[in-house]
Amino acid sequence: MSDHRIRVLRDDEHRAAMDLFRASLHLKPAEDQEWTRAAGAFQPGRTLGAFAGDPGTLIGTARSLDSELTVPGGRTVPLAAVTGVGVRADRTRRGVLTDLMRTQFADFAERGVVAATLHASEAVIYGRFGYGVGTLARGCTIDRTRARLRPEVPAGGEVRLLDGDAAFDVLSAAYPALRTRPGMMARPAHWWTWARAVAGRGDEPTSIAVHQGPGDIDGFVVYTVTRPRTGSAVLRVDDLHAATAEAFAGLWRFLLSVDLVDEIRLGERALDEPVELLVTDPRVCTVTEVADETWLRLLDVPTALAAREYYGDPLVIEVTDPAIPANTGGYVVGPDEVRRTDAPPALRLGVDALAMIYLGAWRPSQLVQTGRAQAAGADAVAAADRLFSTRTPAWCGTFF
Ligand SMILES: CC(C)(COP(=O)(O)OP(=O)(O)OC[C@H]1O[C@@H](n2cnc3c(N)ncnc32)[C@H](O)[C@@H]1OP(=O)(O)O)[C@@H](O)C(=O)NCCC(=O)NCCS
Repeated sequence: MSDHRIRVLRDDEHRAAMDLFRASLHLKPAEDQEWTRAAGAFQPGRTLGAFAGDPGTLIGTARSLDSELTVPGGRTVPLAAVTGVGVRADRTRRGVLTDLMRTQFADFAERGVVAATLHASEAVIYGRFGYGVGTLARGCTIDRTRARLRPEVPAGGEVRLLDGDAAFDVLSAAYPALRTRPGMMARPAHWWTWARAVAGRGDEPTSIAVHQGPGDIDGFVVYTVTRPRTGSAVLRVDDLHAATAEAFAGLWRFLLSVDLVDEIRLGERALDEPVELLVTDPRVCTVTEVADETWLRLLDVPTALAAREYYGDPLVIEVTDPAIPANTGGYVVGPDEVRRTDAPPALRLGVDALAMIYLGAWRPSQLVQTGRAQAAGADAVAAADRLFSTRTPAWCGTFF
């Protein structure tokens, strides 16, 4: 029998959950001022606590935000953005996270949530719960001192800096039109509260600039300039979205013009973002990392499969999901229909592997090649690659 129990936390318990999470990341508890700014980031009723003993000490926590996921083809499905996962260091490896995950899944199922997503601190934690890498992203640095824009780069429109807290209201109004890729998520009001809190907590000021399109704002960048070494300054891009080529070029023209900056640092950007093509010497852009960006858990496989678009001929795939047995079974998957079937499968895979091909982060052939999926033959592998191909590489672009 487990020595802990799980329940939904009340709003007045959220601060304890945040401090427990911070402690699990080896961070100090939030100061009063920080908590005042961050409290609104907790969506009521979405934070779980694990308690041990009597009357009960909080030993673990996990929370989520209600959101929506854009899937290949442009439809959206209800999404839970999972965050704030931590277990007290003296209570780890006793199944606390396992119970938190199980309780979350039950809650998500009850509310009709189709998928869950998270950023993982370590890549070995979440696969066992049916999460797979849903999106990949890259980090780069740009040597600003050597970066010169190529002459054919679009001129771009006007870029202007916004002042004060109201700047985030402008961004939250502009963001939905910029959410164009598979893998991107809706940013609920609680997320914007968190973004404001993060922007206000460092010593350096966070700047916000928007790109004016022909009608509305069609791009923005949030950045922070830090001075890690004497005499050199780094402009860290915290958030950047552009709906058009003009907006992308305009925002980069602006970023490269910011004075007293030696290096521009980008983290978790879309793999196909053509920053190096903007400059005369593409080697001023150094890719520092390509890694998992978000992990995806398909909670309702039939609904998730039916939501995205497909290419080529229908195939039968067989999915195994020990944690949510209703997902287990065969599915005919094709451009015109998705339905359950008992027919022999062309591709067999676990629900975590399905998450890896669902948004297009990996191809079925790569999973077969590495033993993560089994195919009925070479033709089945080629057909599966075509079926699950995507027009645009997936990217989330939202940290939570
Ligand atoms: C990651 C964390 C939440 C796991 O909590 P936990 O209560 O120890 O997890 P569980 O006991 O339920 O573990 C379930 C299984 O996952 C494994 N596991 C859990 N965390 C792991 C880790 N960091 N590395 C390797 N394996 C891990 C356990 O060994 C266990 O495997 P088993 O069933 O074969 O024994 C906890 O270690 C923690 O708080 N870490 C620091 C903060 C952090 O990284 N949070 C996650 C943010 S995304």
